[in-house]
Amino acid sequence: MAAKPHITIVGAGNLAAALAAALLRAGYPIDAVVARSAGGSLRRAKLLARNLGATAVAASHAQIDSDLVWFCVPDGQISRAARSLAGKGAWKRTIALHSSGALTSDELSALRQRGARVASVHPLMTFVRGSRPSLAGVPFAIEGDDSAVRLARRIVKDVRGQPFPIKKRDKAAYHAWGTFASPLLIALLATTERVAVTAGVHRRTAKQRMLPIIAQTVANYAARGAAGAFSGPIVRGDADTVTKHLRVLQQTPLAREVYIALAKAALEYLPAGQRATLKKILTHG
Ligand SMILES: NC(=O)c1ccc[n+]([C@@H]2O[C@H](COP(=O)([O-])OP(=O)(O)OC[C@H]3O[C@@H](n4cnc5c(N)ncnc54)[C@H](OP(=O)(O)O)[C@@H]3O)[C@@H](O)[C@H]2O)c1
Repeated sequence: MAAKPHITIVGAGNLAAALAAALLRAGYPIDAVVARSAGGSLRRAKLLARNLGATAVAASHAQIDSDLVWFCVPDGQISRAARSLAGKGAWKRTIALHSSGALTSDELSALRQRGARVASVHPLMTFVRGSRPSLAGVPFAIEGDDSAVRLARRIVKDVRGQPFPIKKRDKAAYHAWGTFASPLLIALLATTERVAVTAGVHRRTAKQRMLPIIAQTVANYAARGAAGAFSGPIVRGDADTVTKHLRVLQQTPLAREVYIALAKAALEYLPAGQRATLKKILTHG
């Protein structure tokens, strides 16, 4: 496939919006955005399609004739969406991709059986409503059929991402890693806001007041790695302070559980003083 392949996007959610815009900027024509038949779904697909110079079509009426079909639907819908489109095109010369981090290219086996070549192509990036992060420098984990992987690598490079191979058996662990890196980091920040409330600080105020320390922490981590960025009572071995924290956190039991789990991880993975004493305090409260 020498020229830039024409692309159909299935789904019009957070990934689809960011990815399709990047593909178009990189010179890939977007033919269509495929949606479910329900009114809201098609309406959202139309909005996205309009910005891409594409047409929006319900899966039930779709006729796939693009060179490449990129499934940007929730993980639980990938195989269903693939099955629903299997009879709606000649798939023999088509490449089909999905972007699940946890699932393998086998989710697209209904299309592989029809002659398509398939791959999973997962950007290690977070896409939320209203944000379109740049894909420049974003690692993309890729596995699947040779020709699909080759094309996926070329496209990822064209959107200035960084393709890398992943084995099928590693995908679940890979995605658990990615989940720690963003969604669970946000869960930690949400927990942090709850703790601020017990200190008499409103949640919204807490966010503003925390941003400088969070930004500096991420900068320190980038520059010095985890050990070099680690400060606070655990690295100092300040057991009395940790005891005080555990006492006051009884007001927010879930946050206390998170604190204990993370402090235990710190004792395993990071520099710490009074390691044995802290371990005892964290185990017995
Ligand atoms: N968001 C991220 O940060 C991120 C990062 C990396 C990879 N991914 C992967 O990207 C994929 C999409 O995630 P997302 O976050 O973009 O999800 P999302 O925002 O919920 O969007 C999913 C889209 O798929 C549509 N859809 C659902 N079932 C469909 C079907 N059977 N046929 C056609 N369209 C269908 C939904 O439309 P309606 O509900 O309106 O019908 C919606 O437009 C997932 O595989 C996810 O693992 C996401």
